[in-house]
Amino acid sequence: MRGLIDTLRDHHKLASHEYRELLTMCAPEDVKYLMDQAREVAQGQFGTGIYLRGLIELSNVCRNDCLYCGIRRSNRNVSRYTLSRQQVLACCEQGYKIGFRTFVLQGGEWGEERSQWIADIIRDIRHGWPDCAITLSLGEHTRETYALWRDAGADRYLLRHETHNERLYRLLHPQGMTVQHRLQCLDRLKELGYQVGAGIMVGAPFQSLKTIVEDIQYLIEFQPHMIGIGPFIPQHDTPFARFPAGKVDLTARLYAILRLAQPQALIPSTTAMATLSPDGRLRGILAGANVVMPNLSPEDNRKLYALYDNKAALGAESAQGIKKLENELATIGYHIDWSRGDSPSTQK
Ligand code: 5AD
Repeated sequence: MRGLIDTLRDHHKLASHEYRELLTMCAPEDVKYLMDQAREVAQGQFGTGIYLRGLIELSNVCRNDCLYCGIRRSNRNVSRYTLSRQQVLACCEQGYKIGFRTFVLQGGEWGEERSQWIADIIRDIRHGWPDCAITLSLGEHTRETYALWRDAGADRYLLRHETHNERLYRLLHPQGMTVQHRLQCLDRLKELGYQVGAGIMVGAPFQSLKTIVEDIQYLIEFQPHMIGIGPFIPQHDTPFARFPAGKVDLTARLYAILRLAQPQALIPSTTAMATLSPDGRLRGILAGANVVMPNLSPEDNRKLYALYDNKAALGAESAQGIKKLENELATIGYHIDWSRGDSPSTQK
């Protein structure tokens, strides 16, 4: 097993059956070796600093109907909100004071007719906080919309591909959504000069080792700047309410494999990890993740932005919360890196 791990570390690529071996190996000393190598590679790139991204959940209104997601259109039990421009700017103001230098605008997928409204907000943030990075996570849109937002000042875009496997993609999404279109969106975002993030949910219904291996291979081929991966967690009002949640262990293992495959990638230890296990966030970092995304959204809206049940709150939006995060990171020898944290492959 060590031979495989060394090969992945040194050549950033393995054959399909070898990824499968890494995903299923169970000798604790092998798993430890994988984690140790991933951490060492991450530290070689980023030291023991962890980048912060301030998440602003813009709206839970969504035209889409993904079967796993709590804010899907057909969920009538969600009371829908959209933050006002003033509210978004207030989140940035508060976040900036604490020290955040990246704002992530995340929300349900809207129709293109509202793209201009979002562009205006992006422009306001760009002017108000010129030294900050603006990341968008707003779903699939036309090339024109992506270009409009890029011109308005957005730097990065997160769009998990969810799975590269056509059959699985169809099982997770409503009719009319295709993996081809999703991948086309990712290609366009890259062409437009965004730093792009792709990724999957681990343990999604009907997922198999085979599809996970395909996803690893897609990520290695696409070379996203960011890799967003978290365990699937059921939401009680969705068709997948009764499926079991994904595993923190397997997710961490995937972080480690992808860290060795893509040393420079920005990999967040996601909220879903923290939701499933009190030490989930730290375990992600110990597997080579190097980003944490605290929530800057107004308190009242957070529970309405429920993609899955029991979403963890880090509480890092306040000065005390940050102290707590710092202390938590310190227990494993890490600290907050307050810089913008651009992808090493795009830094000027
Ligand atoms: N469990 C975990 N992650 C989810 N997402 C959506 N619904 C769930 C869920 N039930 C993830 C998707 C999406 C991202 C914004 O959140 O991967 O891309």
